[in-house]
Amino acid sequence: MTSPLLITGGTGTLGRLVVPRLRDAGYNVRILSRRSHESGDGIEFMIGDLATGEGLEAALDGIGTIVHCAGSSKGDEGKARNLVRAASRSGARHLVYISVVGAERIPVVSGLDRTMFGYFASKRAAENVVADSGLPWTTLRATQFHDLMLTVAQQLAKLPVMPVPAGVRYQPIDAGEVAARLVELSLGKPSGLVPDIGGPRVYESTELLRSYLRASHRHRLLVPVRLPGKAARAVRAGANLAPEQAVGHRTWEDFLAERLR
Ligand SMILES: NC(=O)c1ccc[n+]([C@@H]2O[C@H](COP(=O)([O-])OP(=O)(O)OC[C@H]3O[C@@H](n4cnc5c(N)ncnc54)[C@H](OP(=O)(O)O)[C@@H]3O)[C@@H](O)[C@H]2O)c1
Repeated sequence: MTSPLLITGGTGTLGRLVVPRLRDAGYNVRILSRRSHESGDGIEFMIGDLATGEGLEAALDGIGTIVHCAGSSKGDEGKARNLVRAASRSGARHLVYISVVGAERIPVVSGLDRTMFGYFASKRAAENVVADSGLPWTTLRATQFHDLMLTVAQQLAKLPVMPVPAGVRYQPIDAGEVAARLVELSLGKPSGLVPDIGGPRVYESTELLRSYLRASHRHRLLVPVRLPGKAARAVRAGANLAPEQAVGHRTWEDFLAERLR
């Protein structure tokens, strides 16, 4: 019998979609979470915290491949460092990491850049931790998931007028399509940095929000706001996009129609 794969973030938007795909491919899965969950049907939950390193040794015991999907808006470098340290000790053979398109192209220089775009810098730093780990690795960069764009749109729609980052475009992708690619990579050989994965179309942010408003039968005034700083300039120039890698199929409109039905 093959050893289970460890999925960090297996309770999150992406990880939740990776787990059933690995099960369908015939693999047992271990999920690292900060909370307790009931195990069963080839899925074992282990409690652990990547920010402190607690529980990692036990979670990695007997693991060959790690799919590192855990993440948050801050501190992904530290989480990667703790994971890599424990995985090097446990003798893991493949570390698969999900990063974000633009991680290496968005300069986070000033405090202002960090406040708005620090996430990209922490993903870049985490990528480097993975690449320098000495473990065989694979990293995939994805554009923003539909789910994230929807959460942002729903938050903004709570305001009477919706501020929109002027000149910023997005290329949202279906998290299920990213999960399918991650599974393919996890079951393959360590490949280093692989080609980005992006959604089928690039949209102006106003266009994304307007389709959300239409689909949710709301009316709001959109107010473009020009974001200051070098990171914002890079994003306006398209650093967060992968138009040459528009390999996703499910569109934002399809996602909205289904989710808001
Ligand atoms: N969302 C996007 O648009 C997007 C785009 C490109 C790349 N990514 C990357 O894809 C990954 C998954 O994103 P997502 O949207 O699925 O995230 P999510 O829904 O917010 O889920 C985050 C996951 O991370 C786990 N986690 C967070 N902090 C942890 C810690 N200290 N220790 C252990 N587990 C921890 C959570 O597990 P528990 O709460 O169960 O502990 C949860 O399963 C992230 O690395 C993200 O940067 C996301």
